[in-house]
Amino acid sequence: MLKIDMHAHILPEDWPNLGAKYNTRGFPYLERHDGRCLIMRDGEFFREIWPNCWDDRVRIEEYETFGVDVQVISTVPVMFCYDQPAALGLEIARFLNDDVARRQHDHPRRIIALGTLPMQDVSLAIEELRRLREQLDVRGVQIGSNINDRNLDDAELFPVFEAAEDLGMAILVHPWQMMGRDKMPRFWLPWLVGMPAELSRAICSMIFGGVLERLPGLRICFAHGGGSFPYTIGRIEHGFNVRPDLVATDNPVNPREYLGRFFVDSVTHDPQALRYLLDVVGDDQVMLGTDYPFPLGEQEPGRLIESLGMPAATRAKLFHANALRWLGLDADAFR
Ligand code: CO
Repeated sequence: MLKIDMHAHILPEDWPNLGAKYNTRGFPYLERHDGRCLIMRDGEFFREIWPNCWDDRVRIEEYETFGVDVQVISTVPVMFCYDQPAALGLEIARFLNDDVARRQHDHPRRIIALGTLPMQDVSLAIEELRRLREQLDVRGVQIGSNINDRNLDDAELFPVFEAAEDLGMAILVHPWQMMGRDKMPRFWLPWLVGMPAELSRAICSMIFGGVLERLPGLRICFAHGGGSFPYTIGRIEHGFNVRPDLVATDNPVNPREYLGRFFVDSVTHDPQALRYLLDVVGDDQVMLGTDYPFPLGEQEPGRLIESLGMPAATRAKLFHANALRWLGLDADAFR
Protein backbone atom coordinates (compact mmCIF):
# COMPACT_ATOMS: atom_id res chain seq x y z
CA MET A 1 0.00 0.00 0.00
CA LEU A 2 1.24 3.46 -0.92
CA LYS A 3 2.34 5.30 2.24
CA ILE A 4 2.88 9.05 2.42
CA ASP A 5 4.30 10.74 5.52
CA MET A 6 2.97 14.28 5.33
CA HIS A 7 4.85 15.65 8.35
CA ALA A 8 8.63 15.35 7.94
CA HIS A 9 11.22 18.06 8.46
CA ILE A 10 14.30 18.86 6.43
CA LEU A 11 17.09 21.43 6.34
CA PRO A 12 19.53 22.44 3.63
CA GLU A 13 23.02 21.07 4.12
CA ASP A 14 24.00 24.64 4.96
CA TRP A 15 22.55 28.12 4.61
CA PRO A 16 23.88 31.69 4.65
CA ASN A 17 24.23 33.33 8.05
CA LEU A 18 21.74 36.08 7.42
CA GLY A 19 21.90 37.17 11.06
CA ALA A 20 25.35 38.61 10.32
CA LYS A 21 24.23 40.12 7.01
CA TYR A 22 21.19 41.85 8.54
CA ASN A 23 22.89 42.44 11.92
CA THR A 24 20.08 40.83 13.93
CA ARG A 25 19.96 38.44 16.87
CA GLY A 26 18.30 35.03 17.07
CA PHE A 27 18.97 33.81 13.52
CA PRO A 28 19.78 30.08 13.45
CA TYR A 29 23.07 28.97 11.90
CA LEU A 30 25.05 25.75 11.69
CA GLU A 31 28.30 24.87 13.38
CA ARG A 32 30.14 21.75 12.27
CA HIS A 33 33.02 20.41 14.33
CA ASP A 34 34.30 17.01 15.54
CA GLY A 35 31.90 15.33 13.11
CA ARG A 36 28.90 16.91 14.82
CA CYS A 37 26.41 19.34 13.30
CA LEU A 38 24.78 21.80 15.65
CA ILE A 39 22.09 24.41 15.10
CA MET A 40 23.11 27.51 17.08
CA ARG A 41 21.50 30.84 17.87
CA ASP A 42 23.46 33.77 19.30
CA GLY A 43 26.21 31.37 20.38
CA GLU A 44 23.75 29.09 22.20
CA PHE A 45 23.13 25.47 21.32
CA PHE A 46 19.62 24.83 19.95
CA ARG A 47 19.67 21.29 18.51
CA GLU A 48 22.02 18.67 17.12
CA ILE A 49 21.12 17.25 13.72
CA TRP A 50 22.38 14.30 11.67
CA PRO A 51 22.67 13.58 7.94
CA ASN A 52 19.06 12.31 7.90
CA CYS A 53 18.09 15.96 8.39
CA TRP A 54 19.63 17.10 5.08
CA ASP A 55 20.80 14.16 2.94
CA ASP A 56 18.12 12.90 0.52
CA ARG A 57 19.93 9.60 -0.04
CA VAL A 58 20.06 8.80 3.69
CA ARG A 59 16.44 9.88 4.16
CA ILE A 60 15.09 7.85 1.25
CA GLU A 61 16.98 4.78 2.49
CA GLU A 62 15.57 5.20 6.00
CA TYR A 63 12.05 5.58 4.64
CA GLU A 64 12.53 2.40 2.61
CA THR A 65 13.30 0.51 5.82
CA PHE A 66 10.04 1.87 7.29
CA GLY A 67 8.09 0.81 4.18
CA VAL A 68 7.00 4.42 3.63
CA ASP A 69 7.21 5.56 -0.01
CA VAL A 70 6.86 9.32 0.06
CA GLN A 71 7.97 12.04 2.47
CA VAL A 72 6.27 15.44 2.45
CA ILE A 73 9.09 17.72 3.54
CA SER A 74 8.85 21.02 5.37
CA THR A 75 11.47 23.14 7.04
CA VAL A 76 12.21 23.01 10.77
CA PRO A 77 10.10 25.73 12.47
CA VAL A 78 13.19 27.38 13.98
CA MET A 79 13.75 28.58 10.38
CA PHE A 80 10.41 30.47 10.22
CA CYS A 81 12.23 33.65 11.34
CA TYR A 82 8.95 35.57 11.67
CA ASP A 83 10.56 37.77 14.33
CA GLN A 84 13.33 38.85 11.94
CA PRO A 85 13.21 41.78 9.50
CA ALA A 86 10.89 41.07 6.55
CA ALA A 87 13.74 41.26 4.01
CA LEU A 88 15.60 38.56 5.93
CA GLY A 89 12.39 36.51 6.21
CA LEU A 90 11.91 36.65 2.45
CA GLU A 91 15.56 35.84 1.69
CA ILE A 92 15.66 32.75 3.94
CA ALA A 93 12.22 31.60 2.75
CA ARG A 94 13.34 31.78 -0.88
CA PHE A 95 16.55 29.91 -0.06
CA LEU A 96 14.68 27.16 1.80
CA ASN A 97 11.96 26.94 -0.84
CA ASP A 98 14.45 26.60 -3.69
CA ASP A 99 16.11 23.81 -1.68
CA VAL A 100 12.92 21.76 -1.07
CA ALA A 101 11.72 22.31 -4.65
CA ARG A 102 15.04 20.99 -6.00
CA ARG A 103 14.70 17.86 -3.84
CA GLN A 104 11.15 17.31 -5.10
CA HIS A 105 12.37 17.76 -8.66
CA ASP A 106 15.25 15.28 -8.09
CA HIS A 107 13.01 12.62 -6.46
CA PRO A 108 9.51 13.14 -7.84
CA ARG A 109 8.20 9.79 -6.62
CA ARG A 110 9.77 10.02 -3.16
CA ILE A 111 9.60 13.66 -2.08
CA ILE A 112 6.83 16.26 -2.00
CA ALA A 113 7.90 19.76 -0.97
CA LEU A 114 6.10 22.20 1.29
CA GLY A 115 7.30 25.79 1.28
CA THR A 116 7.68 28.40 4.00
CA LEU A 117 6.53 32.05 3.91
CA PRO A 118 7.76 35.34 5.41
CA MET A 119 4.51 35.70 7.35
CA GLN A 120 5.71 38.88 9.10
CA ASP A 121 4.98 40.68 5.79
CA VAL A 122 1.73 39.61 4.19
CA SER A 123 2.42 41.00 0.72
CA LEU A 124 5.84 39.30 0.58
CA ALA A 125 4.24 36.10 1.87
CA ILE A 126 1.66 36.14 -0.93
CA GLU A 127 4.34 36.90 -3.51
CA GLU A 128 6.36 33.89 -2.31
CA LEU A 129 3.23 31.71 -2.17
CA ARG A 130 2.61 32.52 -5.83
CA ARG A 131 6.25 31.85 -6.77
CA LEU A 132 6.07 28.46 -5.03
CA ARG A 133 2.97 27.44 -6.94
CA GLU A 134 3.71 28.98 -10.32
CA GLN A 135 7.48 28.66 -10.63
CA LEU A 136 8.54 25.87 -8.27
CA ASP A 137 5.57 23.49 -8.71
CA VAL A 138 5.09 23.31 -4.93
CA ARG A 139 1.61 22.38 -3.67
CA GLY A 140 1.56 23.64 -0.10
CA VAL A 141 3.21 25.58 2.70
CA GLN A 142 3.88 25.19 6.37
CA ILE A 143 3.14 28.15 8.67
CA GLY A 144 3.34 28.74 12.42
CA SER A 145 0.44 28.35 14.85
CA ASN A 146 0.75 32.06 15.59
CA ILE A 147 2.74 34.80 13.89
CA ASN A 148 4.70 36.81 16.45
CA ASP A 149 1.81 36.30 18.89
CA ARG A 150 -0.79 37.33 16.34
CA ASN A 151 -3.42 34.63 16.04
CA LEU A 152 -4.37 33.14 12.71
CA ASP A 153 -7.71 35.00 12.63
CA ASP A 154 -5.84 38.34 12.60
CA ALA A 155 -7.44 40.37 9.82
CA GLU A 156 -4.04 41.28 8.39
CA LEU A 157 -3.23 37.60 7.80
CA PHE A 158 -6.49 36.79 6.03
CA PRO A 159 -5.24 37.63 2.49
CA VAL A 160 -2.60 34.89 2.80
CA PHE A 161 -5.29 32.26 3.44
CA GLU A 162 -7.45 33.73 0.69
CA ALA A 163 -4.52 33.49 -1.75
CA ALA A 164 -3.83 29.91 -0.64
CA GLU A 165 -7.44 28.98 -1.39
CA ASP A 166 -7.28 30.74 -4.78
CA LEU A 167 -4.02 29.03 -5.74
CA GLY A 168 -5.12 25.64 -4.38
CA MET A 169 -2.17 25.58 -1.96
CA ALA A 170 -2.44 23.24 1.02
CA ILE A 171 -1.49 24.62 4.43
CA LEU A 172 0.17 22.81 7.32
CA VAL A 173 -0.12 24.68 10.62
CA HIS A 174 2.81 23.74 12.84
CA PRO A 175 3.34 24.90 16.44
CA TRP A 176 6.07 27.46 17.03
CA GLN A 177 6.72 30.54 19.18
CA MET A 178 5.00 28.47 21.88
CA MET A 179 2.82 30.30 24.38
CA GLY A 180 4.23 30.38 27.90
CA ARG A 181 7.69 29.29 26.77
CA ASP A 182 9.36 31.90 28.99
CA LYS A 183 7.26 30.85 32.00
CA MET A 184 7.98 27.12 31.71
CA PRO A 185 11.47 26.69 30.29
CA ARG A 186 12.23 23.48 32.22
CA PHE A 187 11.29 19.86 31.50
CA TRP A 188 10.85 20.54 27.73
CA LEU A 189 7.44 22.00 28.62
CA PRO A 190 7.24 24.30 25.59
CA TRP A 191 7.22 21.11 23.50
CA LEU A 192 5.12 18.92 25.82
CA VAL A 193 2.56 21.45 27.06
CA GLY A 194 2.92 24.49 24.79
CA MET A 195 2.79 22.66 21.47
CA PRO A 196 -0.56 20.86 22.02
CA ALA A 197 -2.03 24.14 23.30
CA GLU A 198 -0.69 26.02 20.27
CA LEU A 199 -2.69 23.81 17.91
CA SER A 200 -5.90 24.40 19.84
CA ARG A 201 -5.13 28.12 19.81
CA ALA A 202 -4.75 27.99 16.03
CA ILE A 203 -7.88 25.90 15.37
CA CYS A 204 -10.08 27.93 17.76
CA SER A 205 -8.81 31.18 16.26
CA MET A 206 -9.60 30.08 12.73
CA ILE A 207 -13.04 28.78 13.72
CA PHE A 208 -14.18 31.60 16.00
CA GLY A 209 -12.57 34.26 13.81
CA GLY A 210 -14.59 32.96 10.87
CA VAL A 211 -11.59 32.14 8.67
CA LEU A 212 -12.70 28.56 7.98
CA GLU A 213 -16.27 29.81 7.47
CA ARG A 214 -15.20 32.39 4.89
CA LEU A 215 -12.82 30.05 3.04
CA PRO A 216 -14.62 26.71 2.65
CA GLY A 217 -12.19 25.63 -0.09
CA LEU A 218 -9.07 26.08 2.05
CA ARG A 219 -7.29 22.74 2.48
CA ILE A 220 -5.70 23.11 5.90
CA CYS A 221 -4.05 20.63 8.23
CA PHE A 222 -3.17 21.09 11.89
CA ALA A 223 -0.15 19.13 13.10
CA HIS A 224 0.15 16.79 16.09
CA GLY A 225 -3.39 15.47 15.74
CA GLY A 226 -4.81 18.95 16.28
CA GLY A 227 -3.05 19.18 19.66
CA SER A 228 -5.43 19.52 22.59
CA PHE A 229 -8.36 20.67 20.43
CA PRO A 230 -10.03 17.29 19.74
CA TYR A 231 -9.84 16.31 23.43
CA THR A 232 -11.38 19.59 24.60
CA ILE A 233 -14.00 20.10 21.88
CA GLY A 234 -16.69 19.38 24.48
CA ARG A 235 -15.46 22.22 26.66
CA ILE A 236 -15.00 24.51 23.66
CA GLU A 237 -18.55 23.85 22.42
CA HIS A 238 -19.94 24.28 25.94
CA GLY A 239 -18.18 27.63 26.22
CA PHE A 240 -19.66 28.65 22.88
CA ASN A 241 -23.15 27.74 24.14
CA VAL A 242 -23.02 29.34 27.57
CA ARG A 243 -21.05 32.50 26.77
CA PRO A 244 -21.77 33.41 23.16
CA ASP A 245 -21.14 37.02 24.19
CA LEU A 246 -17.46 36.03 24.59
CA VAL A 247 -17.07 33.21 22.10
CA ALA A 248 -19.50 33.75 19.21
CA THR A 249 -18.73 37.41 18.60
CA ASP A 250 -17.31 36.94 15.10
CA ASN A 251 -18.87 33.68 13.93
CA PRO A 252 -22.27 32.33 15.03
CA VAL A 253 -21.57 28.74 13.90
CA ASN A 254 -21.09 26.02 16.52
CA PRO A 255 -17.39 24.96 16.56
CA ARG A 256 -18.38 21.30 16.32
CA GLU A 257 -19.65 22.02 12.80
CA TYR A 258 -16.05 22.37 11.66
CA LEU A 259 -15.02 18.85 12.61
CA GLY A 260 -14.47 17.18 9.28
CA ARG A 261 -13.58 20.50 7.60
CA PHE A 262 -9.87 20.44 8.41
CA PHE A 263 -7.16 17.81 8.33
CA VAL A 264 -4.91 16.62 11.15
CA ASP A 265 -1.88 14.33 11.20
CA SER A 266 -1.61 11.12 13.19
CA VAL A 267 1.17 12.29 15.55
CA THR A 268 -0.52 11.30 18.81
CA HIS A 269 1.85 8.60 20.17
CA ASP A 270 -1.07 6.63 21.56
CA PRO A 271 -3.42 4.17 19.83
CA GLN A 272 -6.36 5.15 22.04
CA ALA A 273 -5.81 8.81 21.28
CA LEU A 274 -5.62 8.07 17.56
CA ARG A 275 -8.83 6.01 17.72
CA TYR A 276 -10.58 8.86 19.52
CA LEU A 277 -9.21 11.37 17.01
CA LEU A 278 -10.64 9.30 14.16
CA ASP A 279 -14.02 9.26 15.91
CA VAL A 280 -13.97 13.02 16.39
CA VAL A 281 -12.72 14.35 13.04
CA GLY A 282 -13.51 11.36 10.82
CA ASP A 283 -11.28 8.98 8.88
CA ASP A 284 -11.30 11.26 5.83
CA GLN A 285 -9.35 13.90 7.74
CA VAL A 286 -6.46 12.05 9.43
CA MET A 287 -3.15 11.54 7.62
CA LEU A 288 0.03 9.67 8.42
CA GLY A 289 2.50 12.16 9.90
CA THR A 290 5.64 11.39 11.88
CA ASP A 291 7.70 14.52 12.63
CA TYR A 292 10.70 12.64 11.19
CA PRO A 293 13.64 12.81 11.83
CA PHE A 294 13.30 14.17 15.37
CA PRO A 295 13.10 12.24 18.64
CA LEU A 296 9.62 13.54 19.52
CA GLY A 297 8.29 12.07 16.27
CA GLU A 298 7.02 8.56 15.58
CA GLN A 299 10.12 6.39 15.65
CA GLU A 300 8.71 3.69 13.36
CA PRO A 301 6.67 5.64 10.82
CA GLY A 302 3.33 3.99 10.10
CA ARG A 303 3.39 1.63 13.08
CA LEU A 304 0.83 3.54 15.16
CA ILE A 305 -1.76 3.44 12.37
CA GLU A 306 -1.02 -0.23 11.67
CA SER A 307 -1.50 -1.01 15.37
CA LEU A 308 -5.19 -0.09 15.20
CA GLY A 309 -5.88 -3.06 12.90
CA MET A 310 -8.27 -1.10 10.71
CA PRO A 311 -9.74 -2.37 7.43
CA ALA A 312 -7.65 -1.82 4.30
CA ALA A 313 -9.99 0.87 2.98
CA THR A 314 -9.53 2.95 6.14
CA ARG A 315 -5.77 2.39 6.18
CA ALA A 316 -5.61 3.54 2.56
CA LYS A 317 -7.24 6.83 3.55
CA LEU A 318 -4.81 7.43 6.41
CA PHE A 319 -1.73 6.25 4.54
CA HIS A 320 -2.22 8.15 1.29
CA ALA A 321 -5.72 9.06 0.03
CA ASN A 322 -6.33 11.88 2.51
CA ALA A 323 -2.85 13.34 2.00
CA LEU A 324 -3.28 13.31 -1.78
CA ARG A 325 -6.64 15.09 -1.42
CA TRP A 326 -5.11 17.63 0.96
CA LEU A 327 -2.27 18.31 -1.51
CA GLY A 328 -4.43 18.15 -4.62
CA LEU A 329 -2.30 15.36 -6.13
CA ASP A 330 -3.05 12.16 -7.96
CA ALA A 331 -1.87 8.75 -6.70
CA ASP A 332 -0.71 7.79 -10.21
CA ALA A 333 2.26 10.13 -9.86
CA PHE A 334 3.71 7.84 -7.16
CA ARG A 335 3.11 4.41 -8.65
CO1 CO B 1 6.98 18.86 13.23
